[in-house]
Amino acid sequence: MLKEMSGFTGEYKGEWFNYPWYYNEIALNVITKKWRKFIELGTWRGHSICHLCFEIKKHTDDNIEIYTVDTFKPTSTSASCTPSNLKDICYKNIQRMGMENTIKVLECTSHEASLKFEDGYFDFVFIDADHAYERIKEDINDWLPKVKKGGIISGHDYAGEVNGVKKAVDEKFGNNKILKNVGIWEVAVK
Ligand SMILES: C[S@@+](CC[C@H](N)C(=O)[O-])C[C@H]1O[C@@H](n2cnc3c(N)ncnc32)[C@H](O)[C@@H]1O
Repeated sequence: MLKEMSGFTGEYKGEWFNYPWYYNEIALNVITKKWRKFIELGTWRGHSICHLCFEIKKHTDDNIEIYTVDTFKPTSTSASCTPSNLKDICYKNIQRMGMENTIKVLECTSHEASLKFEDGYFDFVFIDADHAYERIKEDINDWLPKVKKGGIISGHDYAGEVNGVKKAVDEKFGNNKILKNVGIWEVAVK
């Protein structure tokens, strides 16, 4: 039985998570395209990955693999938003949702995480970790090969002014991307 997402309040809530409609759309692919393997880079408080898991589990529990990656340490672009108990907050959120056996949290950099998976492993990769230009470029180069044909690589904050997402995404994908609300960029892997 799924718990409702309403438990995310106060310090447990992820105000940055303004794209639940996008994850709802992504989760539908477990039905339409039989997607099973998902990863999010940049967990923060766990709100976004719990929402994705919640939506996926509405459709199926069959063979799903859901990963999320975070260092839980401050970076040049996230220092003011990284409380010392970030990791505890995240794990508590996942436990409160009863998703600790489904969501696999990888505590490492997104680059280190990329070395754990073979090419073509994932149906869906979402990039929302370090937003500095060099790091986004690295995430795209590390993770694009990990997406299987027919899958999607996408990310958040294309529209942000104080980060390198737009530059890195434009350089790599040019016109081969779709832009959606709240700074979501998306590329279908062929
Ligand atoms: C923008 S927040 C993620 C927000 C989350 N997806 C949400 O919508 O609520 C970025 C997160 O990425 C993590 N992070 C920063 N650099 C990272 C890296 N190189 N590898 C893994 N995680 C990183 C930070 O600790 C932070 O929690």
